[in-house]
Amino acid sequence: MVSVAGLAGIAAVLALLGRYVVPTLWRMYTSPLRLLPGPSSPSALWGFVKVLHAAEASVPQEQWVEQYGPTISFKLMFGIRRLWTVDTRALNHIIHHTAIYQKPMAARYHLSRVLGPGVLIAEDQQHKNQRHVLNPAFGPSQLKEITEIFTEKANQLRDLWMAEISKAGGGPTRVNGLSWMSRATLDIIGLAGQHIPLRRALDDPLTLPGAGFNYHFEGLNPSGQTNELSEALGVLFNQGGRAQLFGFLQGMLPPLRLIRTEHTRREAAALAVMQRIGRQLIAEKKAALLADAREKGRGVRRRDVADRDLLTLLIKANMATDIPESERLSDEEVLAQVPTFLVAGHETTSVATTWCLYQLTQSPDVQAKLREELLQVPTDSPSMDELNALPYLDMVVKETLRHHTPVPASGRVAMKDDVIPVNTPFTDKKGRTRDHIEIKKGDLLFIPIQSINRSKELWGEDAHEFKPDRWEHAMEKTSQVPGVWANQLTFLGGPHACIGYRFSVVETKALLFALVRAFEFELAVKTEEIKKKGDIVQRPVRVEDQKPDLPLLIKPYRAF
Ligand code: HEM
Repeated sequence: MVSVAGLAGIAAVLALLGRYVVPTLWRMYTSPLRLLPGPSSPSALWGFVKVLHAAEASVPQEQWVEQYGPTISFKLMFGIRRLWTVDTRALNHIIHHTAIYQKPMAARYHLSRVLGPGVLIAEDQQHKNQRHVLNPAFGPSQLKEITEIFTEKANQLRDLWMAEISKAGGGPTRVNGLSWMSRATLDIIGLAGQHIPLRRALDDPLTLPGAGFNYHFEGLNPSGQTNELSEALGVLFNQGGRAQLFGFLQGMLPPLRLIRTEHTRREAAALAVMQRIGRQLIAEKKAALLADAREKGRGVRRRDVADRDLLTLLIKANMATDIPESERLSDEEVLAQVPTFLVAGHETTSVATTWCLYQLTQSPDVQAKLREELLQVPTDSPSMDELNALPYLDMVVKETLRHHTPVPASGRVAMKDDVIPVNTPFTDKKGRTRDHIEIKKGDLLFIPIQSINRSKELWGEDAHEFKPDRWEHAMEKTSQVPGVWANQLTFLGGPHACIGYRFSVVETKALLFALVRAFEFELAVKTEEIKKKGDIVQRPVRVEDQKPDLPLLIKPYRAF
């Protein structure tokens, strides 16, 4: 006799098979992706997961593209195939058809659990509404005002590094470039940001507001101590190996999400901190807007509130009585933007600036030429226009973001059957020449950001070299790249393109401006002791212990 518990167990296994295993097998044997050229899988269970994990991002895929052509597929976990195409026509189609190509279930599960329904994961009409509200906070005129914050924080970092050098006796001093850059960009995106009190705050740089909300991370403090919100962010976004694998499986197999582990408990506590602080910031801003409206004898109206900082725009879109109900953001959507912007806007820019410093240690001539240009500027607090008028700085930033792409790829799933046109026809496994890629609902694919950024086909034979001078001349073929900035895919393109790309570029310029004028940089270890690692954002890590670090030797530049 089978017990009730036994029957329940059998039912659970059958449900799991019916819901997840059978559809996965069905997709494996029916997806048109199986007919695309590509390498044979080394493992039935893992596919190429381990190979890709051990390699630098996109390197194996670039070799496969050389061998099999621009449109390929390869297997990952459980034998499920992914499409990988570097065909710019195909990518243009994918990036612009956001009703069809959306973030995969596993990515959405993880992001939505931590971020809530923010702009990074919203789709369709909800995404359009949110972008409509948020876009003005990232336009050139708003950015002009907050550039002051970037330069002030950059100068604060410069002064702290000077103090480190003095403490060490004045000679070349070792610093972890990655960690300092992370603290500076966290402060900047920090939850502060109404530009009205900025002037007042400039008198006291430690209370300087950041660019996003209304919160002081004070990451740039000499003790290096972190506060509760930055600790919560660390728990939520810097998971270790085992937690990462389990998290991946939870993303793929929803029943596993019911299992509680030590890590999920720590995560829940961190989430609670994030939400408590987010709610408090929103409540304070709401109260201020309401008090102002009451003084004027009416409710909060969009046309009465002129400020365009992120928090004000969000609250206005939540409360204003002259915005139609259907376009208003819910409380939940407003709250979700707090972690969304902290996450999307912090580590990405810190890593970009860190790679730039790394590259300057590898290209001393570029470092010297850049410093020479920066020292021509007669102020240490340049405006956005002054920063953007520096041609070599612009070329160095463009080349860094191309060559050291912070986010190397992004995943998508097809929400329905589709046909993707290609520039370059390919021959499928049945020997047929195809001028399109067939897609079935549920098929998974990657947008190969880094591979496009360093494709020899588009950028020339020297695509893998760091050469800022390439930006002196127009590059004809790169105009095919469907990216929102500088003909590269770094910030993606289409409706989901990075909202903060201008913000990030000016922020990176401001940090480089302050640091390269003041210091000379060398790598404190041998080049081969540092490598690139990271699943979503690529950081420099030490080869010996895989710890994120950019060990720099800094010394004051004599002319400063
Ligand atoms: C070098 C720095 C940065 C890089 C490389 C970068 C890259 C990207 C990429 C590739 C995406 C598209 C992700 C996808 O759909 O798969 C994205 C989206 C996004 N980024 Fe950035 N980003 C950077 C800086 C920033 C900054 C500074 C902010 C905010 C202040 C920001 C906010 C966002 C947001 C909110 C989205 C979601 C946009 C949407 O889906 O509508 N990013 N970013």
